Amino acid sequence: MGKPSVGWSTFQKRWLLMLIVIFSVSTAIVFVIRAASDSCDRHYEDSGGRIHVPSASQIGSIANPLNFMKSRLVLLVSHELSLSGGPLLLMELAFLLRSVGAQIVWITIQRPIETEEVVYSLEHKMLDRGVQVFPARSQEALDTALKADLVVLNTAVSGKWLDAVLKEDVTRVLPKVLWWIHEMRGHYFKMEYVKHLPFVAGAMIDSHTTAEYWKNRTRERLGIKMPETYVVHLGNSKELMEVAEDNVAKRILREHVRESLRVRNEDLLFAAINSVSRGKGQDLFLRSFYESMQLIQEKKVQVPSLHAVIVGSDMNAQTKFERELRNFVIEKKIQDRVHFVNKTLTVAPYLAAIDVLVQNSQARGECFGRITIEAMAFQLPVLGTAAGGTTEIVVNGSTGLLHLAGKEGVTPLAMNIVKLATHVERRLTMGKKGYGRVKEMFMEQHMAHRIASVLKKVLQKAEGRSHF
Ligand SMILES: *[C@@H]1O[C@H](CO)[C@@H](O)[C@H](O)[C@H]1NC(C)=O
Ligand SMILES: *[C@@H]1O[C@H](CO)[C@@H](O)[C@H](O)[C@H]1NC(C)=O
Ligand SMILES: *[C@@H]1O[C@H](CO)[C@@H](O)[C@H](O)[C@H]1NC(C)=O
Repeated sequence: MGKPSVGWSTFQKRWLLMLIVIFSVSTAIVFVIRAASDSCDRHYEDSGGRIHVPSASQIGSIANPLNFMKSRLVLLVSHELSLSGGPLLLMELAFLLRSVGAQIVWITIQRPIETEEVVYSLEHKMLDRGVQVFPARSQEALDTALKADLVVLNTAVSGKWLDAVLKEDVTRVLPKVLWWIHEMRGHYFKMEYVKHLPFVAGAMIDSHTTAEYWKNRTRERLGIKMPETYVVHLGNSKELMEVAEDNVAKRILREHVRESLRVRNEDLLFAAINSVSRGKGQDLFLRSFYESMQLIQEKKVQVPSLHAVIVGSDMNAQTKFERELRNFVIEKKIQDRVHFVNKTLTVAPYLAAIDVLVQNSQARGECFGRITIEAMAFQLPVLGTAAGGTTEIVVNGSTGLLHLAGKEGVTPLAMNIVKLATHVERRLTMGKKGYGRVKEMFMEQHMAHRIASVLKKVLQKAEGRSHF
C-alpha cells in the first residue's frame, strides 16, 4: 500500500470541494444560511436564510422560464438588508432575473439591524452580479419606480415606502407592483403598511394557508380586499441538492457532526432546526422527546439510543426561553441525550447527520418552512405540526407524520417519535418518499417556473392598464 489510490485523491478533491461549498460564507459562491421559512411569524429576527447565486450558464443553458424578463427594468424594494429569510429570498430573485439579462435596481428601506460588515458584503455581492443599489429615499429610486416595468415589494412592512417616497405618484406605480408576502403575524395587519394592497397588480404568498389567512384578515380586520393573489411554494437551491445527493459528502458530514456531538453512528437523532423561540416549539418538542424515552422504557422495546438536537440556540441572548429549555433538560436528567447547537450559517451538515427532522412550529405554523423541503432532500422523514405551510409540504403518513400544535400535540409527537424509532423500514421509506416529493415539486426550477408565470401575468396586467 505504498501510494494512495486514484480513488482516494478523487475523494480528497471532492472533500475539499464540499468544504468550499458548504463552509464558504464569504466567497461569492454560496451562502448556506438559515431557512426562509423562519421569516414567518418572527419579524425576521433570525440571522439566517440561504441564498443560491445561480450562474448564467447553469440557468441559461436550457430554456429558462424567466427569459421573457430579458432587458426588463425591475425595482426590488426590501424592508431590510440582512441575512434573514425575506431579504435573501429577494436577492435570490434578483440573481435569477439578472441571469436572464433583466436590469435590476435594489433599494433597502430600513436602517440595517445587521452589522455594517454584513450589509457591506451583501451590497457588494449584488453589485458584483450587476444589481444596482440606490438609497430608498432618493431621486433615482423615484425615477426608477416610475420607469420600471415591474416593482416588487418584499414583505408587508415595505408598504411604508410607497407614500413616503412616491407621494402623489403612488397611483401611477401601484398597477405594476407585485407584493411578495412571507409573514402572518397580527401586527402586520396595519393600514399604515397595507392600505395600498387592494390596488397593486398582485400579491405573491408562500403557501395556501398564509394566503387564506391574509384574505380573511384583511377583510375582517381592515375591511379591505386582497388583490389577485398567487401562491408560490419555494424550492431548494442547486447547491443544497448537490450535497443532499452526494453520498460520500453526506457520510463525511455525518461522521464529522456526530463526532462533535459525541453520539455514535447507530444512535437515532431527532432534530429541530429553527431559531430557538417559543413560536418554534422547542420546549414542547423536548417534552415529547422525554415522553418518548419513557414510553420506550415502559414498553421495554430495544432501540438504539435516542437523541434530541436543537439547532438554532443563542445562549448569548440569555433569553428566558433558552434558560427554560436548559432547566428542563437538567431537571429530567437527560443532558446526555439533548444537544444544543448554536445558530449556524450552515444547516447541510446537520441534515446529513440526523435521522428525523422535527418541525414543531406552533400556532399558525410556518408560512412555508424551507427547512422542511431541505430535510426531505436529505431523505429525512418529517414529524411536523399540522399547521401552516408544513401541511402543504408533508404528506401525513407518507413523507412524515403530523401532530397537532399546542399541548395536545405533545403525546402524539412522543408516539410518533417512538414509531419512527422502532420501525426502521418505515422511517427510511418515508425519507425516500419525501425526497421524491421534493424532486417533483420543490426544486429551484419549479420555483422559477412558478415565479415566471406570476411575473408574466403581472406584466400583462400592468401593460394592459397603461394603455388606457
Ligand atoms: C377568519 O378570521 C376570523 C377571526 O378574525 C375567524 O373567526 C374565522 O374563523 C376566520 N375564517 C376563516 C375561513 O379562516
Ligand atoms: C455557542 O455560543 C456561545 C455563546 O455565544 C459560546 O459561548 C459557545 O462557545 C458557542 N458554542 C460553540 C460550540 O460554538
Ligand atoms: C396523520 O395520520 C395519522 C394516521 O396515519 C392519523 O392518526 C393522524 O390523526 C393524522 N394527523 C393529522 C394531524 O391529521
